[in-house]
Amino acid sequence: MDCYLETARLILRRFTADDVDALYDLDADPAVTRYINGGRPTPREQVRDELLPRWLAQYDDSPGFGRWAAVEKATGAFLGWFALTAEPGEPGTAELGYRLCRAAWGRGYATEGSRALVDKGFAELGLRRVTANTMTVNAGSRRVMEKTGLRFLRTFFLDWPDQIDGGEHGDVEYELRYDEWVTGRTAV
Ligand SMILES: CC(C)(COP(=O)(O)OP(=O)(O)OC[C@H]1O[C@@H](n2cnc3c(N)ncnc32)[C@H](O)[C@@H]1OP(=O)(O)O)[C@@H](O)C(=O)NCCC(=O)NCCS
Repeated sequence: MDCYLETARLILRRFTADDVDALYDLDADPAVTRYINGGRPTPREQVRDELLPRWLAQYDDSPGFGRWAAVEKATGAFLGWFALTAEPGEPGTAELGYRLCRAAWGRGYATEGSRALVDKGFAELGLRRVTANTMTVNAGSRRVMEKTGLRFLRTFFLDWPDQIDGGEHGDVEYELRYDEWVTGRTAV
């Protein structure tokens, strides 16, 4: 296994071409994609031919950044993914993201993985700023951002292709700057 990061309970590893089924199953749960596209599954062909090839290419295009499969250490189960995506055109900034299968919710995994990724980004990858976005009504995701140390920055409105319940409230952006991260660590 090509391990990228290890936490107390999680392993974040590179995706491989063998992860098509796991990713298909993840997005096949309407509860998981509710705030992404209104609850539609991602077609298997799209996972195989578009998403995975793009994510695998990212490992070479921006070393240290990308999307990582989350595996539960105790069981080896695939839990979903975390992402730290370098912002093209904004050196030193990366966007945090996560998507976990429903069986993994409510156990602190999203917070655990996000904190570890953010720590790595600032401590090892030279980041100056981490951002994260979600729908305004996605309370769970917003809470993960807060528990990871990010701070509400703004509400914004975009023309998304999917009509999603609550979309009229727009999206929110959170951020954490390097100096805030250092201060937060010292305060602990
Ligand atoms: C959002 C998501 C990542 C949360 O994962 P998780 O592992 O359950 O989160 P954690 O266990 O680390 O919980 C972090 C905090 O969020 C809270 N939380 C989680 N889901 C919540 C929800 N639906 N509503 C309100 N609060 C929620 C938890 O109670 C916890 O706060 P607390 O410690 O103060 O009680 C997960 O539900 C998910 O993958 N959802 C589908 C995909 C998605 O929406 N991704 C984000 C898109 S931007």
